[in-house]
Amino acid sequence: MSSKGASVSWKELLPETVSKLEGDNAELEAKWMIEEVSGITEQSDYREKAKPAQLDRLNRLIERRLAGEPLQYVLGRWQFRELDLFVDRRVLIPRPETEVMVGYVIEECKSKKAQFGVETVLNVADLGCGSGAIGLSIAREVEGVSVWCSDISEDAISVTRANLAGLGMAGQKVSITQGFWFDALPEELLGKLDVIVSNPPYIGDDEELPPEVRDWEPSSSLRAGPLGTEDLSFLLKNSIKWLASEGTLFLEMSPKQSGEIVQEALDLGYKGVQLRLDLTERERVLVARKPL
Ligand SMILES: C[S@@+](CC[C@H](N)C(=O)[O-])C[C@H]1O[C@@H](n2cnc3c(N)ncnc32)[C@H](O)[C@@H]1O
Repeated sequence: MSSKGASVSWKELLPETVSKLEGDNAELEAKWMIEEVSGITEQSDYREKAKPAQLDRLNRLIERRLAGEPLQYVLGRWQFRELDLFVDRRVLIPRPETEVMVGYVIEECKSKKAQFGVETVLNVADLGCGSGAIGLSIAREVEGVSVWCSDISEDAISVTRANLAGLGMAGQKVSITQGFWFDALPEELLGKLDVIVSNPPYIGDDEELPPEVRDWEPSSSLRAGPLGTEDLSFLLKNSIKWLASEGTLFLEMSPKQSGEIVQEALDLGYKGVQLRLDLTERERVLVARKPL
């Protein structure tokens, strides 16, 4: 697309953009890219003329997409529940199954508040926060919570901080810390966390990943070690001492790991161990309560 003549409308550019992009979602992706570079949102605005700088940017986005970069990184943002999150290659792209897990966590927070009294402030930790998708959503959607978001990666922490800046008043409920799992948390939280939630790396070293994931997303967000369950097991073992009495742990995992992880939770003495389903009805989330 030439950026010279600036007299072309977005309506005229749309079919050209669609034809350049490949795949079943080309039309939707073309619209998202156009809306990203132009700032237009309504169908009627497509009559507006494109400016040369906007066209240049659109061309760059198309090139990146054609080079295989995931759409979310190309756009630089992605919707997660009620949040419009900034995302780039430093963090995992937040997934729909994680949105579902956050729904379960929010239900649990609301039920704990109903049980303990609405004035109670719940302590919640999102371990391995990446973009901040989980912890920031909880801060946004639940009243009376104190949320710790932590990650080992300095890069991820920078992205969480950028997303926290977009949270407005709800951002006051959030603390962000860096470190290896629980090492990132202040000692005074020991035995005081009402909810621990994590979507840790859970892919085994030998497991194949689609090229769009393998070549673009941070491997430190995906791979846990030879088995794939290393981080899940570590979090299960160590959450017990950090949870408050009746505190609840939520762990996202691969459905094929669910049997093993449930057994580990039972062996460790967790109560109320359950598996919750994702959007495709697969066992995706472990819920477990602190043993008394
Ligand atoms: C699967 S990503 C999840 C990101 C985000 N919570 C989400 O759901 O989109 C796992 C995250 O765990 C972090 N992580 C990996 N090992 C860690 C460790 N030892 N301690 C703390 N965070 C870790 C990674 O940096 C990454 O951000």
